[in-house]
Order: sequence, then C-alpha cells, then structure tokens
Amino acid sequence: TKDWNGHDQVVLRNPQGASARVSLHGGQVTSWRNDRGEELLFTSSKAIFKPPKAVRGGIPICFPQFGSCGSLEQHGFARNRMWSIEDNPPALPTNGSHGKSFVDLLLKPSEEDLKYWPHSFEFRLRVSLASDGNLSLTSRIRNINGKPFSFAFAYHTYFAVSDISEVRIEGLETLDYLDNLCQRERFTEQGDALTFESEVDRVYVSSPSCIAVLDHERKRTYVIKKEGLPDTVVWNPWEKKSKAMVDFGDEEYKQMLCVDPAAIEKSITLKPGEEWTGRMELAVVPSSFCSDD
Ligand code: BG6
Repeated sequence: TKDWNGHDQVVLRNPQGASARVSLHGGQVTSWRNDRGEELLFTSSKAIFKPPKAVRGGIPICFPQFGSCGSLEQHGFARNRMWSIEDNPPALPTNGSHGKSFVDLLLKPSEEDLKYWPHSFEFRLRVSLASDGNLSLTSRIRNINGKPFSFAFAYHTYFAVSDISEVRIEGLETLDYLDNLCQRERFTEQGDALTFESEVDRVYVSSPSCIAVLDHERKRTYVIKKEGLPDTVVWNPWEKKSKAMVDFGDEEYKQMLCVDPAAIEKSITLKPGEEWTGRMELAVVPSSFCSDD
C-alpha cells in the first residue's frame, strides 16, 4: 500500500508491518522499518527537515557529482531538488512490481540546473518495499540531450548501528580504495573485515555485488546487493568532524555508518538517448551472509 503523508512524502507499507518513507524533497528515503517497527536507517536528531538542503540521514542520492571534486554543490543537486511522482513510468525490464509496495519518482533539471550542468536528463527512481521487508532502489537515468554526458552517482545510505566500535563490514577486504581524507590517494585494504576506530572517508573501487554490515551488539546484519554500481563509499565522520556539522549531534557518529553503493572512480557516460540503471537492495538478517540467490 501507499499513502500520502502531508504533501511531500509517501509511506510504503507491507502486510507484515514493515514500512519505508520517501520524501519528494531529494527523492530521499527517510525511514525504513522492519515488521517490529524498528528503524533501520539513521537520521540525526539535529537533522533540518526544510529544503533546500538534504536531510542528514536516510538515503540521499548523490548525482551528478560525488563529493566536492567538481563544479557543482557537494554531492550534486539531485538530493536538494523537489522530485515529482510519476504514475505511469516506462516499464522496468526486470524486478517488476509483483508483491511489492512501490513509488515512482521523476527528476528533470530546472532551467537553473541547466546553467550549471547543461545536460538534459530524465532521472526515474523506483523505491520498493517487498513482502519480506527488503528495500530496493532502482535509478534509471536517460540522456535526452543531443550530446553525451558523464556523471557520478551514489546511494548515500546511513545505516543505524548500536555502537560503531562493535560494527564490521565484510566484502571490502583486500580491495583498493581512494582515500578522500588524502586527496583521493589510492591504497589497498589489508587484513580482515573492516572495523572502526577513527574517521573513515573512502571509495572502495570495483567492490563485489554483495556487502555485509554486521552489528555485533544488536545481532543484526545489513546485506547490501548492488547492480551497475561498482564502487562502495564508507564514511564515518568520527568525533572532530561530527562537532563541525551543524545538523549532526556530537556523539551521533557512534550510531551510524554510511555505506554507499556508487559509481565514482570511473564516471558513467551516456550517449544521446541512452539509459543507465543502478540498483541496490537492502535486507536485514540475523547473522552474516552474502548468498547468491
Ligand atoms: C561522504 C563523503 O560520503 O559524505 C564525505 O565522502 C562527506 O566527504 C559526507 O563529508 C557528508 O557530506 P554532506 O554534504 O552530506 O555533509
């Protein structure tokens, strides 16, 4: 089912009681709850819920730029714009709507956006909540311009965790990463699963299609599956940066971890008329696994 909640957000629910909330501001998922009503995404208690800036938490969409390397605002403009609901979008080739509660959103550039990024596009986002409570986001970006254009992309996903020092990520060990804290210098991850004891801001390149975030204390594992998104960003601001962010509590870095399916190292290029698809599916399981099904 899908209900309106105010004018600018849609609530998806499944029959078991899981839910997701999607804001038209940014096309941003701002809540995802399991069938016990537990919130699975982090949102800061200091988040500012007023446009034009994206809310600190949930799943902001970074497009057409990631970070501040480029001429646009940090992480691009998509997360700061109003999206519209599209009732009859072009059909998705796979992963249809069967048994799912979903909403389709559309973003087109404004006149103002075209001044800074002169490329016409249609960005279609489907957010679906499946009967098992899994949340999937499918983005389709089409070039409706006469010339090719390139972009970067990320689902900037803020997972809620019990205590960052009890969390580890599996699936990124031994990979190369670009470290945003050192001018995107390239390093190779050593050793076992990733754990956290200081600020982390990295882009793991060519990462596997399944990554797990294990919350030992809560005995909960987030399983992230991705398609069309080769990279994975890992971000935790830690103590010092937390204090510098106005919309983030000083201690909140302990309760969140961003793990973002992304396309950053190699930008995506679309020729006129071409469309790109980037998809992620999030599940929560009691233990650790990345199965192939
Ligand atoms: C991360 C970036 O993904 O997002 C960081 O790698 C950045 O460098 C962070 O600080 C938050 O960005 P923003 O614009 O939402 O404050």
